[in-house]
Amino acid sequence: MSLSRHVDAEALIEKCKNHPHRKHSSAGSRKGLHQTWRRDEDAANVPKYTIPRTGINSKAAYQLLHDETALDGNPLLNLASFVHTWMPEDANKLIMENINKNIVDLDEYPAASLIHNRCVSMMADLWKAPKDGKAIGTATAGSSEAIMLGGLAMKKRWQESRKAAGKDHYHPNIVFGSNAQVALEKFARYFDVETRLVPVKETNGFIMDPHDAIPFIDENTIGVIVILGSTYTGHYEDVALMSSLLDDLQERTGLDIPIHVDGASGGFIAPFAHPSLKWNFEVPRVVSINTSGHKFGLVYAGLGWVLWRDESYLHRDLVFELHYLGSVEYSFTLNFSKPAAPIIAQMYNFLNLGFDGYKKIAFKDMRNSRMLSRALESTYFTVLSNIHRPVSPEKRPSTPNRKGHIDEDDPEFYEAGLPVVAFRLSDEFKKENPNVQQEWIQTLLRTKGWIVPNYNAPIGAETVEILRVVVRETLSEDLIERFIVDILTITESLQGKDGAIFAAIASTKLPTQPDHDDARPESANFGDIRESAEAVPSGQTGFSRQC
Ligand SMILES: Cc1ncc(COP(=O)(O)O)c(C=O)c1O
Repeated sequence: MSLSRHVDAEALIEKCKNHPHRKHSSAGSRKGLHQTWRRDEDAANVPKYTIPRTGINSKAAYQLLHDETALDGNPLLNLASFVHTWMPEDANKLIMENINKNIVDLDEYPAASLIHNRCVSMMADLWKAPKDGKAIGTATAGSSEAIMLGGLAMKKRWQESRKAAGKDHYHPNIVFGSNAQVALEKFARYFDVETRLVPVKETNGFIMDPHDAIPFIDENTIGVIVILGSTYTGHYEDVALMSSLLDDLQERTGLDIPIHVDGASGGFIAPFAHPSLKWNFEVPRVVSINTSGHKFGLVYAGLGWVLWRDESYLHRDLVFELHYLGSVEYSFTLNFSKPAAPIIAQMYNFLNLGFDGYKKIAFKDMRNSRMLSRALESTYFTVLSNIHRPVSPEKRPSTPNRKGHIDEDDPEFYEAGLPVVAFRLSDEFKKENPNVQQEWIQTLLRTKGWIVPNYNAPIGAETVEILRVVVRETLSEDLIERFIVDILTITESLQGKDGAIFAAIASTKLPTQPDHDDARPESANFGDIRESAEAVPSGQTGFSRQC
Protein backbone atom coordinates (compact mmCIF):
# COMPACT_ATOMS: atom_id res chain seq x y z
CA MET A 1 0.00 0.00 0.00
CA SER A 2 1.16 3.50 -0.67
CA LEU A 3 1.31 6.03 2.13
CA SER A 4 -1.74 8.16 2.10
CA ARG A 5 -2.39 11.51 3.69
CA HIS A 6 -5.45 12.50 5.68
CA VAL A 7 -7.81 14.51 3.50
CA ASP A 8 -9.73 17.37 5.06
CA ALA A 9 -13.06 17.57 3.20
CA GLU A 10 -13.50 21.33 3.81
CA ALA A 11 -10.03 22.13 2.49
CA LEU A 12 -10.70 19.89 -0.48
CA ILE A 13 -13.87 21.78 -1.40
CA GLU A 14 -11.98 25.07 -1.26
CA LYS A 15 -9.18 23.64 -3.40
CA CYS A 16 -11.65 22.40 -6.03
CA LYS A 17 -13.22 25.86 -6.42
CA ASN A 18 -10.06 27.07 -8.13
CA HIS A 19 -9.03 23.91 -9.90
CA PRO A 20 -9.15 24.39 -13.70
CA HIS A 21 -11.06 21.15 -14.31
CA ARG A 22 -12.54 20.10 -11.00
CA LYS A 23 -14.42 23.36 -10.48
CA HIS A 24 -16.64 22.17 -13.36
CA SER A 25 -17.26 18.69 -12.01
CA SER A 26 -20.06 18.04 -9.49
CA ALA A 27 -21.38 20.59 -7.09
CA GLY A 28 -18.20 21.70 -5.34
CA SER A 29 -19.71 21.51 -1.88
CA ARG A 30 -20.49 17.80 -2.35
CA LYS A 31 -16.87 16.81 -3.03
CA GLY A 32 -16.46 15.28 0.41
CA LEU A 33 -19.58 13.11 0.08
CA HIS A 34 -20.24 9.89 -1.74
CA GLN A 35 -22.71 10.01 -4.60
CA THR A 36 -24.67 6.96 -5.65
CA TRP A 37 -27.25 6.12 -8.27
CA ARG A 38 -29.29 3.98 -5.87
CA ARG A 39 -32.95 4.95 -5.71
CA ASP A 40 -33.32 4.53 -1.97
CA GLU A 41 -30.88 7.40 -1.48
CA ASP A 42 -29.33 5.40 1.33
CA ALA A 43 -25.85 6.32 0.37
CA ALA A 44 -26.59 10.01 -0.14
CA ASN A 45 -24.63 12.30 2.14
CA VAL A 46 -22.23 9.63 3.30
CA PRO A 47 -18.97 11.36 4.06
CA LYS A 48 -15.91 10.22 2.13
CA TYR A 49 -13.18 11.22 4.56
CA THR A 50 -14.75 10.78 8.01
CA ILE A 51 -16.52 7.70 9.36
CA PRO A 52 -20.27 8.26 8.92
CA ARG A 53 -22.06 8.81 12.24
CA THR A 54 -24.86 6.50 11.14
CA GLY A 55 -24.06 3.69 8.74
CA ILE A 56 -25.88 2.94 5.51
CA ASN A 57 -27.53 -0.39 4.84
CA SER A 58 -25.45 -3.31 3.67
CA LYS A 59 -26.78 -3.35 0.10
CA ALA A 60 -26.09 0.36 -0.35
CA ALA A 61 -22.58 0.02 1.07
CA TYR A 62 -21.96 -2.93 -1.23
CA GLN A 63 -23.24 -1.07 -4.28
CA LEU A 64 -21.18 1.98 -3.55
CA LEU A 65 -17.92 0.07 -3.25
CA HIS A 66 -18.83 -2.34 -6.03
CA ASP A 67 -19.25 0.60 -8.38
CA GLU A 68 -16.11 2.34 -7.20
CA THR A 69 -13.92 -0.76 -7.59
CA ALA A 70 -15.27 -1.21 -11.12
CA LEU A 71 -12.87 1.60 -12.02
CA ASP A 72 -9.91 -0.68 -11.30
CA GLY A 73 -8.10 -2.27 -14.21
CA ASN A 74 -9.13 -5.75 -15.33
CA PRO A 75 -6.84 -8.28 -13.57
CA LEU A 76 -6.93 -10.53 -16.64
CA LEU A 77 -5.42 -7.77 -18.77
CA ASN A 78 -2.94 -6.71 -16.08
CA LEU A 79 0.23 -7.83 -17.79
CA ALA A 80 2.31 -5.71 -15.42
CA SER A 81 1.91 -7.84 -12.35
CA PHE A 82 3.53 -11.10 -11.31
CA VAL A 83 0.68 -11.70 -8.88
CA HIS A 84 -1.77 -14.49 -9.62
CA THR A 85 -5.38 -13.54 -10.21
CA TRP A 86 -7.41 -16.67 -10.76
CA MET A 87 -8.11 -19.90 -8.87
CA PRO A 88 -10.62 -22.69 -9.60
CA GLU A 89 -14.08 -22.58 -8.05
CA ASP A 90 -13.25 -25.27 -5.47
CA ALA A 91 -10.27 -23.24 -4.30
CA ASN A 92 -12.44 -20.14 -4.01
CA LYS A 93 -14.93 -22.15 -1.95
CA LEU A 94 -12.18 -23.41 0.33
CA ILE A 95 -10.83 -19.89 0.74
CA MET A 96 -14.29 -18.57 1.69
CA GLU A 97 -14.74 -21.45 4.16
CA ASN A 98 -11.49 -20.50 5.88
CA ILE A 99 -11.46 -16.75 5.40
CA ASN A 100 -12.17 -16.15 9.09
CA LYS A 101 -9.21 -18.12 10.44
CA ASN A 102 -6.04 -16.64 11.84
CA ILE A 103 -3.07 -18.94 11.29
CA VAL A 104 -1.44 -17.71 14.49
CA ASP A 105 -4.25 -19.19 16.60
CA LEU A 106 -2.66 -22.61 16.77
CA ASP A 107 -4.88 -23.69 19.60
CA GLU A 108 -8.09 -22.82 17.78
CA TYR A 109 -7.03 -23.85 14.27
CA PRO A 110 -4.61 -26.76 14.61
CA ALA A 111 -5.55 -28.18 11.20
CA ALA A 112 -4.56 -24.97 9.40
CA SER A 113 -1.27 -25.07 11.24
CA LEU A 114 -0.59 -28.67 10.18
CA ILE A 115 -1.34 -27.74 6.57
CA HIS A 116 1.22 -24.93 6.90
CA ASN A 117 3.82 -27.41 8.13
CA ARG A 118 3.14 -29.76 5.24
CA CYS A 119 3.51 -26.87 2.75
CA VAL A 120 6.97 -26.14 4.21
CA SER A 121 7.95 -29.82 3.87
CA MET A 122 6.78 -29.98 0.27
CA MET A 123 8.72 -26.86 -0.64
CA ALA A 124 11.86 -28.07 1.15
CA ASP A 125 11.63 -31.20 -0.96
CA LEU A 126 10.96 -29.22 -4.16
CA TRP A 127 14.02 -27.04 -3.48
CA LYS A 128 16.20 -30.04 -2.69
CA ALA A 129 16.90 -29.36 0.96
CA PRO A 130 19.51 -31.84 2.26
CA LYS A 131 17.80 -35.03 3.36
CA ASP A 132 19.97 -35.31 6.47
CA GLY A 133 19.41 -31.65 7.44
CA LYS A 134 16.56 -30.03 9.27
CA ALA A 135 15.14 -27.58 6.77
CA ILE A 136 12.79 -25.06 8.35
CA GLY A 137 10.53 -22.33 7.04
CA THR A 138 7.45 -20.22 7.45
CA ALA A 139 4.65 -18.58 5.52
CA THR A 140 4.86 -14.81 5.18
CA ALA A 141 2.73 -12.00 3.80
CA GLY A 142 4.75 -12.14 0.58
CA SER A 143 8.33 -12.25 -0.62
CA SER A 144 9.05 -8.88 0.97
CA GLU A 145 8.49 -10.16 4.52
CA ALA A 146 10.29 -13.36 3.56
CA ILE A 147 13.33 -11.37 2.38
CA MET A 148 13.33 -9.35 5.62
CA LEU A 149 13.42 -12.60 7.61
CA GLY A 150 16.13 -14.12 5.41
CA GLY A 151 18.18 -10.92 5.72
CA LEU A 152 17.69 -10.75 9.49
CA ALA A 153 18.86 -14.32 9.95
CA MET A 154 22.04 -13.58 7.96
CA LYS A 155 22.62 -10.36 9.89
CA LYS A 156 22.27 -12.08 13.25
CA ARG A 157 24.63 -14.91 12.30
CA TRP A 158 27.23 -12.39 11.10
CA GLN A 159 26.87 -10.32 14.29
CA GLU A 160 27.24 -13.33 16.53
CA SER A 161 30.33 -14.62 14.75
CA ARG A 162 31.91 -11.12 14.83
CA LYS A 163 31.13 -10.79 18.53
CA ALA A 164 32.62 -14.21 19.23
CA ALA A 165 35.78 -13.13 17.38
CA GLY A 166 35.87 -9.87 19.37
CA LYS A 167 35.44 -7.81 16.18
CA ASP A 168 33.29 -4.80 15.25
CA HIS A 169 29.73 -5.96 14.63
CA TYR A 170 28.04 -2.60 14.04
CA HIS A 171 28.67 -2.07 10.32
CA PRO A 172 27.04 -4.90 8.39
CA ASN A 173 26.58 -4.67 4.65
CA ILE A 174 24.71 -6.75 2.09
CA VAL A 175 25.49 -7.20 -1.59
CA PHE A 176 23.00 -7.54 -4.46
CA GLY A 177 22.45 -6.28 -8.00
CA SER A 178 21.00 -2.86 -8.74
CA ASN A 179 18.17 -4.75 -10.47
CA ALA A 180 16.90 -5.80 -7.03
CA GLN A 181 13.25 -5.35 -6.24
CA VAL A 182 12.51 -2.64 -3.65
CA ALA A 183 11.99 -5.29 -0.93
CA LEU A 184 15.74 -5.91 -0.80
CA GLU A 185 16.58 -2.24 -0.32
CA LYS A 186 13.81 -1.97 2.25
CA PHE A 187 15.35 -4.81 4.27
CA ALA A 188 18.74 -3.07 4.26
CA ARG A 189 17.39 0.36 5.19
CA TYR A 190 14.84 -0.78 7.78
CA PHE A 191 17.36 -3.03 9.54
CA ASP A 192 20.42 -0.77 9.35
CA VAL A 193 22.47 -2.77 6.91
CA GLU A 194 24.54 -0.92 4.31
CA THR A 195 23.35 -1.67 0.78
CA ARG A 196 26.09 -2.46 -1.70
CA LEU A 197 24.46 -2.33 -5.11
CA VAL A 198 26.30 -4.05 -7.92
CA PRO A 199 25.64 -2.08 -11.14
CA VAL A 200 24.21 -4.06 -14.02
CA LYS A 201 24.96 -3.96 -17.75
CA GLU A 202 22.65 -4.19 -20.75
CA THR A 203 24.99 -6.77 -22.30
CA ASN A 204 24.40 -8.99 -19.29
CA GLY A 205 20.60 -8.80 -19.38
CA PHE A 206 20.46 -6.07 -16.67
CA ILE A 207 21.36 -8.53 -13.92
CA MET A 208 24.25 -8.87 -11.49
CA ASP A 209 27.31 -10.55 -12.94
CA PRO A 210 28.70 -12.58 -10.01
CA HIS A 211 32.25 -11.51 -10.97
CA ASP A 212 31.23 -7.87 -10.45
CA ALA A 213 29.85 -8.67 -6.99
CA ILE A 214 33.13 -9.94 -5.54
CA PRO A 215 34.84 -6.53 -5.14
CA PHE A 216 31.86 -5.30 -3.07
CA ILE A 217 32.36 -8.02 -0.45
CA ASP A 218 34.41 -7.62 2.71
CA GLU A 219 34.50 -8.89 6.28
CA ASN A 220 31.32 -6.93 7.09
CA THR A 221 29.24 -8.59 4.37
CA ILE A 222 26.39 -10.57 5.90
CA GLY A 223 25.54 -12.24 2.60
CA VAL A 224 24.84 -11.92 -1.10
CA ILE A 225 21.29 -12.02 -2.43
CA VAL A 226 21.05 -13.68 -5.82
CA ILE A 227 17.85 -13.01 -7.73
CA LEU A 228 16.16 -15.91 -9.45
CA GLY A 229 14.03 -14.01 -11.80
CA SER A 230 14.86 -10.34 -12.19
CA THR A 231 11.78 -8.18 -11.90
CA TYR A 232 13.03 -6.14 -14.85
CA THR A 233 13.58 -8.78 -17.50
CA GLY A 234 12.98 -12.19 -15.93
CA HIS A 235 16.67 -13.20 -16.29
CA TYR A 236 18.03 -15.58 -13.69
CA GLU A 237 21.21 -14.57 -11.89
CA ASP A 238 23.77 -17.34 -11.73
CA VAL A 239 23.57 -18.89 -8.26
CA ALA A 240 26.07 -21.69 -8.98
CA LEU A 241 28.67 -19.28 -10.38
CA MET A 242 28.19 -16.89 -7.45
CA SER A 243 28.71 -19.80 -5.11
CA SER A 244 31.90 -21.00 -6.77
CA LEU A 245 33.33 -17.44 -6.83
CA LEU A 246 32.56 -17.20 -3.11
CA ASP A 247 34.36 -20.52 -2.61
CA ASP A 248 37.43 -18.98 -4.31
CA LEU A 249 37.07 -15.89 -2.15
CA GLN A 250 36.94 -18.02 0.98
CA GLU A 251 40.10 -19.85 -0.06
CA ARG A 252 41.91 -16.57 -0.63
CA THR A 253 40.60 -14.58 2.34
CA GLY A 254 38.87 -16.91 4.77
CA LEU A 255 35.57 -15.00 4.34
CA ASP A 256 32.62 -17.39 4.41
CA ILE A 257 29.76 -15.53 2.71
CA PRO A 258 26.29 -17.11 2.56
CA ILE A 259 23.80 -16.76 -0.30
CA HIS A 260 20.10 -15.98 0.04
CA VAL A 261 18.16 -16.66 -3.17
CA ASP A 262 15.31 -14.26 -3.96
CA GLY A 263 13.12 -16.71 -5.82
CA ALA A 264 10.01 -14.50 -5.56
CA SER A 265 8.94 -15.71 -9.00
CA GLY A 266 11.60 -18.27 -9.96
CA GLY A 267 11.04 -20.44 -6.88
CA PHE A 268 7.89 -21.80 -8.48
CA ILE A 269 9.08 -21.74 -12.12
CA ALA A 270 12.65 -23.06 -12.17
CA PRO A 271 11.88 -26.46 -10.54
CA PHE A 272 9.34 -27.21 -13.25
CA ALA A 273 10.70 -25.46 -16.34
CA HIS A 274 14.46 -25.82 -15.72
CA PRO A 275 14.95 -28.82 -13.42
CA SER A 276 18.63 -29.11 -14.38
CA LEU A 277 19.47 -25.60 -13.22
CA LYS A 278 21.57 -25.50 -10.03
CA TRP A 279 20.11 -22.71 -7.90
CA ASN A 280 18.49 -24.19 -4.79
CA PHE A 281 19.68 -25.96 -1.62
CA GLU A 282 21.71 -28.31 -3.80
CA VAL A 283 24.21 -25.44 -3.84
CA PRO A 284 25.69 -25.74 -0.32
CA ARG A 285 26.29 -21.98 0.06
CA VAL A 286 22.56 -21.27 -0.36
CA VAL A 287 21.31 -20.88 3.20
CA SER A 288 17.83 -19.52 2.53
CA ILE A 289 15.32 -19.05 -0.26
CA ASN A 290 12.15 -16.97 -0.50
CA THR A 291 9.26 -17.18 -2.91
CA SER A 292 5.82 -15.66 -3.38
CA GLY A 293 3.02 -18.18 -3.13
CA HIS A 294 0.93 -15.46 -4.74
CA LYS A 295 3.02 -15.32 -7.91
CA PHE A 296 3.80 -18.55 -9.71
CA GLY A 297 2.70 -20.49 -6.60
CA LEU A 298 -0.69 -19.68 -8.17
CA VAL A 299 -2.46 -18.37 -5.04
CA TYR A 300 -4.16 -14.96 -4.69
CA ALA A 301 -2.26 -12.02 -3.20
CA GLY A 302 -1.14 -12.35 0.42
CA LEU A 303 1.26 -15.29 0.61
CA GLY A 304 5.02 -15.76 0.62
CA TRP A 305 7.42 -18.35 1.94
CA VAL A 306 10.95 -18.43 3.30
CA LEU A 307 12.95 -21.58 3.99
CA TRP A 308 16.37 -22.16 5.54
CA ARG A 309 18.47 -25.18 4.69
CA ASP A 310 18.80 -26.03 8.40
CA GLU A 311 17.33 -24.75 11.66
CA SER A 312 20.82 -23.85 12.90
CA TYR A 313 20.69 -20.83 10.52
CA LEU A 314 18.10 -19.21 12.78
CA HIS A 315 19.63 -17.64 15.85
CA ARG A 316 17.54 -18.32 18.94
CA ASP A 317 17.15 -14.57 19.61
CA LEU A 318 15.02 -14.25 16.49
CA VAL A 319 12.63 -17.02 17.38
CA PHE A 320 9.69 -16.55 19.73
CA GLU A 321 7.97 -19.28 21.67
CA LEU A 322 4.21 -19.70 21.45
CA HIS A 323 2.73 -21.92 24.11
CA TYR A 324 0.12 -24.11 22.57
CA LEU A 325 -1.94 -26.98 24.00
CA GLY A 326 0.76 -27.72 26.52
CA SER A 327 3.50 -27.83 23.90
CA VAL A 328 5.72 -25.09 22.55
CA GLU A 329 5.64 -23.81 18.96
CA TYR A 330 8.23 -21.44 17.55
CA SER A 331 7.64 -18.36 15.44
CA PHE A 332 9.84 -16.09 13.32
CA THR A 333 7.69 -13.55 11.48
CA LEU A 334 7.25 -9.77 11.37
CA ASN A 335 3.48 -9.82 11.74
CA PHE A 336 1.63 -11.78 14.42
CA SER A 337 -1.82 -12.38 12.90
CA LYS A 338 -2.09 -13.71 9.35
CA PRO A 339 -4.89 -15.20 7.31
CA ALA A 340 -4.89 -19.00 7.15
CA ALA A 341 -6.85 -19.11 3.89
CA PRO A 342 -3.91 -18.40 1.50
CA ILE A 343 -1.90 -21.21 3.10
CA ILE A 344 -4.81 -23.61 2.70
CA ALA A 345 -5.15 -22.42 -0.91
CA GLN A 346 -1.45 -23.16 -1.47
CA MET A 347 -1.97 -26.72 -0.26
CA TYR A 348 -5.03 -26.99 -2.52
CA ASN A 349 -2.73 -26.22 -5.48
CA PHE A 350 -0.11 -28.72 -4.36
CA LEU A 351 -2.75 -31.43 -4.12
CA ASN A 352 -4.77 -30.49 -7.17
CA LEU A 353 -1.94 -29.72 -9.58
CA GLY A 354 0.84 -31.89 -8.28
CA PHE A 355 4.30 -31.54 -9.79
CA ASP A 356 3.02 -32.35 -13.28
CA GLY A 357 0.25 -29.75 -13.11
CA TYR A 358 2.67 -26.99 -12.11
CA LYS A 359 5.02 -28.16 -14.84
CA LYS A 360 2.27 -28.07 -17.47
CA ILE A 361 1.38 -24.49 -16.54
CA ALA A 362 5.05 -23.42 -16.49
CA PHE A 363 5.59 -24.98 -19.92
CA LYS A 364 2.51 -23.18 -21.30
CA ASP A 365 3.62 -19.84 -19.84
CA MET A 366 7.09 -20.29 -21.35
CA ARG A 367 5.63 -21.31 -24.74
CA ASN A 368 3.36 -18.27 -24.80
CA SER A 369 6.27 -16.02 -23.81
CA ARG A 370 8.31 -17.35 -26.70
CA MET A 371 5.43 -16.74 -29.10
CA LEU A 372 5.12 -13.13 -27.97
CA SER A 373 8.90 -12.59 -28.02
CA ARG A 374 9.19 -13.82 -31.59
CA ALA A 375 6.30 -11.65 -32.80
CA LEU A 376 7.81 -8.55 -31.20
CA GLU A 377 11.32 -9.32 -32.39
CA SER A 378 10.23 -9.79 -35.99
CA THR A 379 8.57 -6.36 -36.07
CA TYR A 380 9.52 -3.08 -34.38
CA PHE A 381 11.07 -4.24 -31.14
CA THR A 382 14.24 -5.55 -29.58
CA VAL A 383 13.51 -8.25 -27.04
CA LEU A 384 15.65 -7.97 -23.91
CA SER A 385 14.50 -11.15 -22.15
CA ASN A 386 16.06 -14.32 -23.50
CA ILE A 387 13.82 -17.30 -22.72
CA HIS A 388 13.03 -17.66 -26.44
CA ARG A 389 16.71 -18.03 -27.41
CA PRO A 390 17.89 -21.64 -27.82
CA VAL A 391 20.92 -22.49 -25.71
CA SER A 392 23.96 -23.73 -27.55
CA PRO A 393 23.99 -27.55 -27.75
CA GLU A 394 26.99 -27.80 -25.41
CA LYS A 395 25.10 -25.81 -22.74
CA ARG A 396 22.05 -28.05 -22.99
CA PRO A 397 21.50 -30.38 -20.03
CA SER A 398 22.69 -33.90 -20.70
CA THR A 399 19.11 -35.13 -20.64
CA PRO A 400 17.36 -32.29 -22.44
CA ASN A 401 14.22 -34.30 -22.82
CA ARG A 402 12.72 -37.47 -21.60
CA LYS A 403 12.28 -39.08 -25.03
CA GLY A 404 15.84 -39.01 -26.30
CA HIS A 405 15.29 -36.34 -28.96
CA ILE A 406 15.41 -32.57 -28.87
CA ASP A 407 12.02 -31.32 -27.75
CA GLU A 408 11.58 -27.73 -28.80
CA ASP A 409 8.69 -27.27 -26.38
CA ASP A 410 10.95 -28.01 -23.42
CA PRO A 411 12.03 -24.74 -21.77
CA GLU A 412 15.43 -26.36 -21.13
CA PHE A 413 16.01 -26.09 -24.89
CA TYR A 414 16.14 -22.31 -24.33
CA GLU A 415 17.90 -19.89 -21.98
CA ALA A 416 16.56 -20.14 -18.44
CA GLY A 417 14.38 -17.36 -17.05
CA LEU A 418 10.89 -16.37 -16.03
CA PRO A 419 7.93 -16.31 -18.44
CA VAL A 420 8.46 -12.60 -18.92
CA VAL A 421 8.89 -10.65 -22.13
CA ALA A 422 10.90 -7.47 -21.71
CA PHE A 423 11.34 -5.37 -24.82
CA ARG A 424 12.01 -1.93 -26.23
CA LEU A 425 11.60 -0.17 -29.55
CA SER A 426 14.33 -1.31 -31.92
CA ASP A 427 17.20 1.05 -32.80
CA GLU A 428 16.02 0.95 -36.40
CA PHE A 429 12.51 2.02 -35.45
CA LYS A 430 13.84 4.82 -33.23
CA LYS A 431 16.10 6.06 -36.02
CA GLU A 432 13.22 6.19 -38.49
CA ASN A 433 10.79 7.69 -35.96
CA PRO A 434 12.89 9.86 -33.66
CA ASN A 435 9.87 11.68 -32.21
CA VAL A 436 8.06 8.59 -30.98
CA GLN A 437 8.33 8.12 -27.19
CA GLN A 438 8.19 4.52 -26.01
CA GLU A 439 6.01 5.46 -23.03
CA TRP A 440 3.22 6.45 -25.47
CA ILE A 441 2.83 2.75 -26.24
CA GLN A 442 2.11 2.05 -22.57
CA THR A 443 -0.53 4.79 -22.50
CA LEU A 444 -2.19 3.77 -25.75
CA LEU A 445 -2.27 0.10 -24.72
CA ARG A 446 -4.12 1.21 -21.59
CA THR A 447 -6.85 2.71 -23.73
CA LYS A 448 -7.44 -0.81 -25.05
CA GLY A 449 -7.49 -2.28 -21.54
CA TRP A 450 -3.94 -3.73 -21.52
CA ILE A 451 -1.79 -2.75 -18.55
CA VAL A 452 1.88 -2.87 -19.55
CA PRO A 453 4.55 -0.91 -17.68
CA ASN A 454 7.32 1.13 -19.29
CA TYR A 455 10.23 1.91 -16.96
CA ASN A 456 13.93 2.63 -16.89
CA ALA A 457 16.50 -0.12 -16.50
CA PRO A 458 18.40 -0.33 -13.20
CA ILE A 459 21.56 1.59 -12.25
CA GLY A 460 24.30 0.89 -14.71
CA ALA A 461 21.93 0.90 -17.70
CA GLU A 462 19.36 3.48 -16.59
CA THR A 463 19.01 5.20 -19.96
CA VAL A 464 17.31 2.14 -21.44
CA GLU A 465 13.50 2.12 -21.29
CA ILE A 466 11.83 -1.26 -20.94
CA LEU A 467 8.29 -2.44 -21.67
CA ARG A 468 7.42 -5.68 -19.89
CA VAL A 469 4.74 -8.37 -20.14
CA VAL A 470 4.47 -11.03 -17.41
CA VAL A 471 3.00 -14.13 -19.00
CA ARG A 472 0.87 -15.65 -16.26
CA GLU A 473 -1.44 -18.66 -16.37
CA THR A 474 -4.43 -16.56 -17.41
CA LEU A 475 -2.72 -14.99 -20.43
CA SER A 476 -3.91 -17.47 -23.02
CA GLU A 477 -2.54 -17.90 -26.51
CA ASP A 478 -5.70 -16.22 -27.85
CA LEU A 479 -5.18 -13.18 -25.64
CA ILE A 480 -1.55 -12.96 -26.69
CA GLU A 481 -2.63 -12.93 -30.32
CA ARG A 482 -5.01 -10.06 -29.57
CA PHE A 483 -2.27 -8.26 -27.69
CA ILE A 484 0.16 -8.64 -30.58
CA VAL A 485 -2.36 -7.17 -33.01
CA ASP A 486 -3.06 -4.25 -30.65
CA ILE A 487 0.55 -3.36 -29.92
CA LEU A 488 1.52 -3.55 -33.59
CA THR A 489 -1.48 -1.43 -34.63
CA ILE A 490 -0.59 1.16 -32.00
CA THR A 491 3.08 1.23 -32.97
CA GLU A 492 2.26 1.60 -36.64
CA SER A 493 -0.23 4.37 -35.93
CA LEU A 494 2.54 6.31 -34.18
CA GLN A 495 4.65 6.06 -37.32
CA GLY A 496 2.06 7.38 -39.73
CA LYS A 497 0.63 10.81 -40.28
CA ASP A 498 -1.74 10.32 -37.34
CA GLY A 499 1.23 9.82 -35.06
CA ALA A 500 1.11 13.42 -33.85
CA ILE A 501 -2.55 13.02 -32.79
CA PHE A 502 -1.82 9.79 -30.95
CA ALA A 503 1.17 11.42 -29.36
CA ALA A 504 -1.06 14.21 -28.06
CA ILE A 505 -3.46 11.64 -26.56
CA ALA A 506 -0.65 9.63 -25.10
CA SER A 507 1.22 12.54 -23.64
CA THR A 508 -1.56 13.02 -21.05
CA LYS A 509 -0.64 10.42 -18.49
CA LEU A 510 -3.31 7.77 -17.97
CA PRO A 511 -5.12 7.07 -15.82
CA THR A 512 -5.74 10.38 -14.04
CA GLN A 513 -6.80 9.91 -10.43
CA PRO A 514 -7.61 13.27 -8.87
CA ASP A 515 -8.97 11.71 -5.66
CA HIS A 516 -5.74 9.82 -5.24
CA ASP A 517 -3.72 13.00 -5.72
CA ASP A 518 -5.56 14.59 -2.79
CA ALA A 519 -4.26 11.90 -0.43
CA ARG A 520 -0.70 11.82 -1.78
CA PRO A 521 1.80 13.08 0.80
CA GLU A 522 4.42 15.66 -0.11
CA SER A 523 7.81 14.06 0.21
CA ALA A 524 9.33 17.42 1.18
CA ASN A 525 7.37 17.22 4.44
CA PHE A 526 8.79 13.89 5.57
CA GLY A 527 11.00 14.16 8.63
CA ASP A 528 14.67 14.44 7.77
CA ILE A 529 17.64 15.84 9.59
CA ARG A 530 19.44 16.41 6.30
CA GLU A 531 19.56 20.06 5.46
CA SER A 532 19.30 20.19 1.73
CA ALA A 533 17.92 18.18 -1.13
CA GLU A 534 21.53 17.69 -2.30
CA ALA A 535 22.10 15.44 0.67
CA VAL A 536 19.51 12.95 -0.60
CA PRO A 537 21.20 10.00 -2.32
CA SER A 538 20.60 10.25 -6.03
CA GLY A 539 21.05 8.02 -8.98
CA GLN A 540 18.39 5.47 -8.09
CA THR A 541 16.22 4.47 -10.94
CA GLY A 542 13.85 1.71 -12.02
CA PHE A 543 10.74 0.96 -9.98
CA SER A 544 11.70 2.64 -6.77
CA ARG A 545 13.93 5.39 -5.56
CA GLN A 546 14.78 6.83 -2.19
CA CYS A 547 12.36 9.59 -1.38
C1 LIG B 1 12.46 -10.44 -7.49
C2 LIG B 1 11.40 -9.97 -6.53
N1 LIG B 1 11.67 -9.96 -5.22
C3 LIG B 1 10.75 -9.55 -4.31
C4 LIG B 1 9.50 -9.14 -4.70
C5 LIG B 1 8.48 -8.72 -3.66
O1 LIG B 1 7.52 -9.71 -3.62
P1 LIG B 1 6.13 -9.57 -2.83
O2 LIG B 1 5.28 -8.70 -3.70
O3 LIG B 1 5.63 -10.97 -2.76
O4 LIG B 1 6.40 -8.97 -1.51
C6 LIG B 1 9.18 -9.13 -6.07
C7 LIG B 1 7.86 -8.66 -6.53
O5 LIG B 1 7.60 -8.53 -7.70
C8 LIG B 1 10.15 -9.56 -7.00
O6 LIG B 1 9.89 -9.58 -8.32
